[in-house]
Amino acid sequence: MNREGKVYVFDHPLIQHKVTLMRQTSTTTKEFRELAREVVTLMTFEATRDLPLKDVEIETPITKCTMKMLAGEDIAIVPILRAGLGFVDGMLDLIPNAKVGHIGLYRDPETHEPVEYYCKLPADIEKREVFVVDPMLATGGSAIAAIDFIKMRHVENINFMCLIAAPEGIEALQKAHPDVNIYIAAKDDHLNEHAYIVPGLGDAGDRLYGTK
Ligand code: PRP
Ligand code: URA
Repeated sequence: MNREGKVYVFDHPLIQHKVTLMRQTSTTTKEFRELAREVVTLMTFEATRDLPLKDVEIETPITKCTMKMLAGEDIAIVPILRAGLGFVDGMLDLIPNAKVGHIGLYRDPETHEPVEYYCKLPADIEKREVFVVDPMLATGGSAIAAIDFIKMRHVENINFMCLIAAPEGIEALQKAHPDVNIYIAAKDDHLNEHAYIVPGLGDAGDRLYGTK
């Protein structure tokens, strides 16, 4: 194991405000999508705080000097379909050269266990810092299964970013993948009997795509 994963809950007022708007039933699909993009951009700003920098020689109109730039643009974003797709554009706004992989999983409505239907990852994913993204971390089953797939490709630096997490999901993900950093906009109270997050925002995929 390469590193000890940490849990970061972003308490920035803008993030809290926008997540509260996303939770509200009265928020339309259009507004929900726009808010998701905005929140994810803000979260990406925070989640990339520790990316390594390198010295580069540049020339300004005044002088030559040594300044900092990102050491690599070796980032991969892996949304868990389908709701994770709502995270991709907000991240690409800040990291336009990131490669994007996709993992398709849905929760079986009876067992709440993840069922895989698609997996396509960048060919060089093992060289990259990977951000697995999904709005909801409920039981943790989907995030754990997605990261299991990615680890089969010998990836070492994995992060998981979500909007809302239940304590049960955080605990399960940390237990299964203790090396993964977890970035959360809001930590909620508990899961209900259908394994939905309370208070949550409902079904993230339905809210993003207007299916219901
Ligand atoms: C939702 C959500 C996560 C998963 C979280 O997806 O987007 O992927 O549930 O739940 P878990 O932590 O208990 O696994 P869903 O299965 O509803 O599929 P969808 O994105 O296709 O709607
Ligand atoms: N998936 C969702 O979309 N919402 C929840 O609250 C739990 C799982």
